[in-house]
Amino acid sequence: MVKITGSKFDMYDENDTKAVTFRNCVAGILENGEVSSLGGYKHHHFTTRLQHSLNVSYYSYCLCRKLGWDFRSAARAGLMHDLYFFENTSVDENGQKLLKNHPFRALENSERIFELNEIEKDAIVNHMWPCISLSRPRFKESMVVSFSDKFCAVIEATLGASLFAARKSSAAANSIASGISDAYVQTKETSLYMLRSIRGTAANVIRLACSFII
Ligand SMILES: [Fe+2]
Ligand SMILES: [Fe+2]
Repeated sequence: MVKITGSKFDMYDENDTKAVTFRNCVAGILENGEVSSLGGYKHHHFTTRLQHSLNVSYYSYCLCRKLGWDFRSAARAGLMHDLYFFENTSVDENGQKLLKNHPFRALENSERIFELNEIEKDAIVNHMWPCISLSRPRFKESMVVSFSDKFCAVIEATLGASLFAARKSSAAANSIASGISDAYVQTKETSLYMLRSIRGTAANVIRLACSFII
């Protein structure tokens, strides 16, 4: 099952109309090799760019579907909005961060691989609005993709940080528990050794005493 961060939605549930419709919307994009390769890039510290793109696609789809808007374009644009193939920390030969222009790279890549409508192009190139965009999204669906992008960044960072903290606490607890367990085993072994020594000595003393009596 492909999970959506912060949701129990199962996109491969054949009995769920919402899941079947979502899969139809993103068909051809999700299976594409270049899109799949986004799974190899770390994103927002705790997730991959593919997972983030799928999250944005799903939440944009849900919101637009609920509002009676073009959910297909929103789902597709969400999946393509971060379609660029460099690390977020990469810089060019002048030391400029490549991330600054990533909406343009994502649009270039998306247009090279897929056929896009105007809503999808606008949603991809303006998804960083109002952070680093040249213009405000022109369509309500583009606005939804932009909003979902921020929403997903927050839930990915929050859930990721919580999981990280939980794993660290669990590792610390395990280490304390294993320390206690080691100490218990050592104490038990030492006690048994001492008991055996005392028993051996007592047996020798009794044997010696008996030899005098007999
Ligand atoms: Fe982005
Ligand atoms: Fe994004």
